[in-house]
Amino acid sequence: MWQDPDAAIASLQYGPPRGSDALCAWIARREGVDPSRIVVTNGGMHGLALTVLTVVERDATVAVDDPVFPGFLWALEVSTTRTLPVPVVAGGFDVEHLARRLANGTRIAAAYTVPDFHNPAQVSLSAPKRRALIELAERYGFYVIVDDPYRELRFRGQDQGVAVFHESDRAIHVNTFTKTLGPGWRVGWLVLPDHLVDPVTRLRNRLDVHTSSVTQATIERLLTDDATRFDRIVHGATTLYRERADALIDALREQLPGAFRIVAPEGGLFLWPRLTDDAVDPTELFRRAAAHGVLYQPGEYFAADPGQRSSARHLRLSYSDRTPEELREAVRRLALAF
Ligand SMILES: Cc1ncc(COP(=O)(O)O)c(C=O)c1O
Repeated sequence: MWQDPDAAIASLQYGPPRGSDALCAWIARREGVDPSRIVVTNGGMHGLALTVLTVVERDATVAVDDPVFPGFLWALEVSTTRTLPVPVVAGGFDVEHLARRLANGTRIAAAYTVPDFHNPAQVSLSAPKRRALIELAERYGFYVIVDDPYRELRFRGQDQGVAVFHESDRAIHVNTFTKTLGPGWRVGWLVLPDHLVDPVTRLRNRLDVHTSSVTQATIERLLTDDATRFDRIVHGATTLYRERADALIDALREQLPGAFRIVAPEGGLFLWPRLTDDAVDPTELFRRAAAHGVLYQPGEYFAADPGQRSSARHLRLSYSDRTPEELREAVRRLALAF
């Protein structure tokens, strides 16, 4: 873009608080919504904070995934620390669990979930559960905060769809280029119901005016001067991630047979194996693995309910930036730790 002096100079000016028209248009096409519903943010965390500040009153209760992406709990602290942990099960956020709590009189301002390739639990929310969650939100009048940074990273299985969220006045979709183009850009977006576009835009205008025009213009050029580039980047990444996920699973099954209950991921960046033997102490295992030069995120880090011990039986293994050889070597060392 810097070969076009007019475009370069234009990007040194203030721009619209919702984001540049061109970038909003690209994102809106990808999401299948009207561009007027997009707000470009400084990444997913910024989108979560704007959402919380807009729809969560002080001291309100928010239902959250358990295990949960801890960054959301940090974002929530700008308004409240009252959470209702909702188990994440094989089909994702346990909507029936939440329905029972609501039927018993619990009231919430919002429910937070990562519907695709959950961080850390790797599962996706099934299409019927997406619909059921939105029906609950519409019946009880809370917002669903849909945090979806891994959505593009599917390498097998069936897409469960986001239209059900985009069609509801009760869903706020938070997304980011962090997992596709890289975290350093600090660019993400919100898809908002029409009635929240003004309040969120006013808030963001008062906080930081808008996302850097230079960065928006650079990303917009990257996405549009070659119409297939983004899809090629995503395809290249997911091909690599599938190979790495499979290499990690094969190595665990070969070198530590029976030590873990493993669910093969359909996308995303993580494996969330569960220790099968209750005699294995996860804290001690982590200490020994580190001594052998293997680091991972212990499951207890993601517990939304500290009293609940089930997350602690898991390890979050990240396979995206290690070669199959490195992953096999890591498992060999993990086996030594055992
Ligand atoms: C579930 C989830 N939401 C949000 C984010 C934050 O994204 P960003 O780097 O765009 O702020 C992450 C990053 O790891 C994440 O895993």
